[in-house]
Amino acid sequence: MFTSLRRPSSSTVMVTINGQSVPAHAGQTVWAAMALAGQTVTRQAALSGEDRSAFCAMGVCFECMVEIDGQPNQQACLRRVTEGMTIQTQNITEHSGAQNHGL
Ligand code: FES
Repeated sequence: MFTSLRRPSSSTVMVTINGQSVPAHAGQTVWAAMALAGQTVTRQAALSGEDRSAFCAMGVCFECMVEIDGQPNQQACLRRVTEGMTIQTQNITEHSGAQNHGL
C-alpha cells in the first residue's frame, strides 16, 4: 500500500473522500490523499464503466479525474488539498448524461 514520506510535523487538513472524513497533509495532492486513504479509484471509464486510477501522477494522462467540491474533471494529481475539501470518485459515463456535467 501507500505510505507518506512527509515528516509527522507537517500541518494537517481534513478532507472528505467519498463520504469518509480523513486527515491529509497540507499541500499534498488530492491523489496522494486518496491513495493514503486507500481510495485509489478516481473515476469510471466513460464507455466501459471500468474503474480507473492515476497513472502518470504528473498531469499528462488524465486518468485521475475526480469531482472536487462539486466540480467534475479535476486532475487529482495536480490539485492540492485544502481544509474541508470534498472529493468524489467521478462517475460520468455515456449513460449518466455527460451534457449535465458540462462535457
Ligand atoms: S495521473 Fe495522469 S494526469 Fe493525473
